Amino acid sequence: MSILVTGSAGFIGSNFVRLLIDATREHIVSLDALTYAGNMDNLVNVPSDRHTFIHGNICDEQTLTEVFRDHAIKKVVHFAAESHVDRSIMSSGPFIQTNVVGTQRLLDASKSHGVEAFVHVSTDEVYGTLNLTEPAFTEQHHIQPNSPYSASKAASDLLVRSYVETFDFPAMITRCSNNYGPYQFPEKLIPLMIHNAKNNRPLPVYGDGSNIRDWIHVSDHCKGVLCVMDKGKAGEVYNIGGHSELKNIDIVHQIIDACGADSSLIQFVTDRPGHDFRYAMDIEKIKRELGWAPEVSFSDGLSSTIQWYADNSDWLEKIINGDYQNYYKEQYQ
Ligand code: NAD
Ligand code: DAU
Repeated sequence: MSILVTGSAGFIGSNFVRLLIDATREHIVSLDALTYAGNMDNLVNVPSDRHTFIHGNICDEQTLTEVFRDHAIKKVVHFAAESHVDRSIMSSGPFIQTNVVGTQRLLDASKSHGVEAFVHVSTDEVYGTLNLTEPAFTEQHHIQPNSPYSASKAASDLLVRSYVETFDFPAMITRCSNNYGPYQFPEKLIPLMIHNAKNNRPLPVYGDGSNIRDWIHVSDHCKGVLCVMDKGKAGEVYNIGGHSELKNIDIVHQIIDACGADSSLIQFVTDRPGHDFRYAMDIEKIKRELGWAPEVSFSDGLSSTIQWYADNSDWLEKIINGDYQNYYKEQYQ
């Protein structure tokens, strides 16, 4: 029997595959369409006797039929998604296709196959935004997404919920805050700022930099997802967060200091349209019911992440020298 991981060549999916290798004895079947964000270099050193990679799209019913026909899948952990808010503002079509239609196709295939558990990996962004004084999001908070990305994730969450209610489908939803760590594509705040600071390039801060995110190291997120896969209750939603709320501008200053860069590199640029001001997660439920809590402090996690990017400059350069240049020009010029 195997565990199917979708989006396995992306940032969090690839970290999760490595965790499954280390923490379980299971065989892993992983499926990824290898979009711009998917990268086989993220899966180097994953032992082939424990892992079968399939290059395929979750929107493609034939691919899903073959995956479930050819492998004895007992659990599904669903990471595959279009994940970047700025790209969803440029063009929302791929977000609806993968995040909504793809999730529906995967749900149907998993339901037909009678899987034991389905973990749908979602985001705090479905809850919308908070001001400075509002309490952190609990699982009961209303769903009020503000970007095409978060709307597509919210739609997929609601589809998952409907399969639980209508078909008694054994799904759980995790909603996590902002991840950082090794193998993150350099379109996201932390790796983008590390790369630019190291190369003496401008550091584009949206608006006045006062927006707040709750940061979690990817290893903690992956452990939380594993915990939900093993011990979660069907039909439940579990918030996952790092208890580490920080303003964007403060993170940028920490990166500047750690990289020995100059703060004159900071450029305040036009704000992201519909930019959520603050996310904060109440993680009492997963702590109390499943015994999970984050372990990596932001300062330790940031130092080790900066070190990882320094040690893996080939990985980064390969990305930066590809289509990334076109994206960067379109987004920042
Ligand atoms: P990512 O963009 O790095 O990786 C996504 C992966 O999905 C890529 O490998 C891509 O090739 C693959 N993919 C995209 N469309 C596909 C399709 N149609 N079929 C098969 N594979 C496809 O994203 P990430 O940051 O690793 O996020 C993974 C999941 O976690 C997403 O569902 C995201 O919404 C969620 N999440 C991310 C964060 C974060 O901070 N990055 C926080 C909370 C939740
Ligand atoms: O909260 C969870 C979400 O975190 C995930 O669901 C998403 O997949 C993930 O991309 C992330 O979304 P954000 O939009 O919060 O992350 P991003 O790294 O794009 O931006 C973090 C903050 O930094 C946000 O307030 C926008 C700001 N920012 C970002 C970039 C890329 C800048 O100021 N400048 C930048 O160049």
